[in-house]
Order: sequence, then structure tokens, then C-alpha cells
Amino acid sequence: MSTLVKGIHHITQCPGPAQQDVDFCTQVLGQRLVKQTVLLDGNIPIYHFYYGNADADPGSIATSFPYSRKAGRAGSGQISVVSYAIPKGAAPFWVQHLDRFSVEHDGIKERFGTRYLRLRHPAGMWYEVVEADDHRRPWKTSRISADVATRGFFGAVMSVRSVEEQEQFLVDALGFRKVGVDGPFHRFQGGSCPGGIIDLHHEPERAPGTWAFGAGTFHHIAFTVENDEALFAQKALYEELGYTDASEVKDRYYFHSMYVRSPGGVLVECTANAPGGFFQDESPEELGTHLNLPPWYESQRAEILRRLEPVTVPDESRARCGAVRTPVPVGVPVSSTPLSRTNADFARYER
Ligand SMILES: [Fe+2]
Repeated sequence: MSTLVKGIHHITQCPGPAQQDVDFCTQVLGQRLVKQTVLLDGNIPIYHFYYGNADADPGSIATSFPYSRKAGRAGSGQISVVSYAIPKGAAPFWVQHLDRFSVEHDGIKERFGTRYLRLRHPAGMWYEVVEADDHRRPWKTSRISADVATRGFFGAVMSVRSVEEQEQFLVDALGFRKVGVDGPFHRFQGGSCPGGIIDLHHEPERAPGTWAFGAGTFHHIAFTVENDEALFAQKALYEELGYTDASEVKDRYYFHSMYVRSPGGVLVECTANAPGGFFQDESPEELGTHLNLPPWYESQRAEILRRLEPVTVPDESRARCGAVRTPVPVGVPVSSTPLSRTNADFARYER
């Protein structure tokens, strides 16, 4: 069994309009805007927002590509729900909170003996808040106090038409263990960090969802591995198991990434933090307050800004003095193997 995967690193979604996403994630979900940057693939400037808890912990980071250009189709073979941990007893608060914002939700339910509440992003993606013991530091807002706020991910739900092959992938390739079945939900626990639950939702009749970027869908889930060496070891493990379409290792500036399409259809990334992580281009006090570009895109900043819709970040999601603990230096040795970078030409390929 693999022990390379330490837990969830981030989950990436495609909402619609950028401002709608910023408002929903910060004011309704109560997340901190951790980073504003751009999608590093392709030649179209698209925002890439990162939201997280007070400490921007891996395992709390939801990232957004606002993709109003095209609608996606939710379906099987996708992440169907992203789940956040909330303190025990906090679910009734979330009913009132969501009603106040007129957010669609399903009321309090129970799965695996745990209370949860499912709610919908205005672009169509579904989230849950799940009552759990979780001691990570929450981000607070004027409407969401620390005693009810989300702590980070509880996990994620994947919709699959068949459980068996995806189960084999989770266990053999990612080191998860099966911990239970509740109706159509098969639960797996992985890694050593909080928030490592994956529920496979068996939906044999559900049509496959889109794999391309498209508004209203989740695009991929990323798992943390310790360093670049572990990233290459994970790629070798995939190949040993026969998952030979694993990608090259890509330089995502804040971390290094390698992707594979899992047998159930969900795109799975493994991620090793780059030295400094999110703090290499912003201090803890500035985190998320500016549009940051990787150094190899700085020469195109004016062109990128011209084509991105302006967004306003609510004051309460801006950094506060003392809001983040002094970051622990991320002592990750950088691989001697060259990493892959996309070098977009935004002006040349305007469309
Ligand atoms: Fe990612």
C-alpha cells in the first residue's frame, strides 16, 4: 500500500462569473481569499483564486477557475460534492446562515452517523458542511464566528458509475483504506492529515459529466505528497500499476504537480509544495490581496489585466494582522529533473 499521499491538498472548481465566486466563497462559505493568480495552462487569461482557512492549510484550499466562457455538465466521473468540516452542533447555524443568503440547501441530513448539510453554489456546484472533530484554525467573518466556521475540508464525494475500479485506484495507488458503506456511499480514509475522507457515490445510471473546463463543475482533486522525490515516486507507482497516462511533473509555481485520470473518471493531481509555498510572493499579512503572476508571466501582466474582469474582495476576507501564524519554512528539496512549464502567449492567441 502506498504511503506517499499525506492528504488532500486542494480541490479545483469551475464557477461562472469571478465576482459571484468571490462573494459566495468568502461571504457564504466564509473562506479566506488566500491567493489571486491566473490559470497557467492555455493562452486565455483566466483567474485562479485560492480560498482556505485562517492558516491557508493544505487540505483547506478550494481553487477556482471562473469559466463563464462555457457551461460544464455535472455528472458521474467527477467530484460531485466538496465537504467542509464544521464543529459538532454547528449544522443548525448553517441552515439559518444559508437561508439569510437565500442559498439553496437540502436541510440537515445524516450519513455514516454524522450530521451534514448540502448547499449549492450559484454556478451549480454542491458543497457540504459536515459536523466533525477538527481543530484546524477557522477563518472568521462578521456573520460566521469561530465556533461554527469551517475548519478545512472534511473530504470530497466522487460520483462513479462503478465502485470497484475506483476503489482499487484509491487503495492501491493512493493508499486509502475502506472504512464503511452507507447505502450508495462507500467511504475511504487516506493520508495522515485532517480531512482525508473520500466517499464514492455509486450512481450507475448517471451520465458522465464533462472533463473539460466548464462552469458549474469540479475539475480535479489534488493530494499532498512530501516533496518532488515523492512526486516522481508516485508517478512510477502509477506506471507500475498500469496507469500509464500520468502526466509529466509541472511547475505550478506554488507547488509541483502531476496528474492522472482515475478509472472512475475523476482527474487526480498529486502535489509537492515548492519552497515557500503560498508565501514566496506575498507576506502572511498580504496573502490574497493582489493579483500575483509567476515570474515567467510578469512581462504579460498588462495584457492579462486588460482581459480579466475586475473583482472586489470583501474587506472581511482580506488579511488581518496576526491572522496567519508565521509560516513554517517549507524545506522541500527542488528536483534536479527539469519541470514542465506552459509558456502562454496571451496577446497572440486572443479569442
Ligand atoms: Fe490543481
